[in-house]
Amino acid sequence: MTISISFAQEHEELDVINILTEYQMGYPGEIDEVLVAKDEGEIVGGAKISQCDEGLFFLEVIGVKEGLQTQGVGKALLSTILEDPWECCKEVFWEKGIDNEFTLATLARGYAVGFYEKMGFKPCTLEDIPEWYRDQCGECPDQDKCQPVPMIYYGGKNK
Ligand SMILES: CC(C)(COP(=O)(O)OP(=O)(O)OC[C@H]1O[C@@H](n2cnc3c(N)ncnc32)[C@H](O)[C@@H]1OP(=O)(O)O)[C@@H](O)C(=O)NCCC(=O)NCCS
Repeated sequence: MTISISFAQEHEELDVINILTEYQMGYPGEIDEVLVAKDEGEIVGGAKISQCDEGLFFLEVIGVKEGLQTQGVGKALLSTILEDPWECCKEVFWEKGIDNEFTLATLARGYAVGFYEKMGFKPCTLEDIPEWYRDQCGECPDQDKCQPVPMIYYGGKNK
């Protein structure tokens, strides 16, 4: 696969929705805030982050097209985000500091914890993730099966 990463365009909305709904996931906000991975023009994955405070980001969703997992698409998306979350976040309210310090938190599905660990995330407490998202799984009927784990990545100087 030759993967390129960019923000989604309006006409790509259905492709992104189709990938994410396979996992009962969606994205809050607008389609052009979603980062997509493309292989020769075909959308093979998507992810969205938001900024919650200065240097504090949250990964709201990430998903790779069914049948194309474990071929590096998730890694390509997430490593692009970790390289520069400001560049991968459509709505930046606080600009980059001189040390480029940031944290990227997420609520990982239990079965995906190994993927995040491979990418340098560590399990954390719910209090370590932005308050707004602590109840992200609260109304999900699959919560018991999914066993979500709060995880965090320290980037920049505080890595
Ligand atoms: C989780 C997900 C995004 C990972 O993307 P992916 O393209 O399948 O993963 P990659 O091929 O980029 O894997 C990167 C590394 O993580 C490892 N990895 C991937 N999924 C893993 C898992 N579930 N458990 C342990 N390790 C995993 C890979 O082996 C690879 O390791 P390597 O670099 O040593 O070869 C993808 O599988 C997916 O969309 N899953 C369903 C939706 C989902 O669970 N999203 C996350 C919700 S929190």
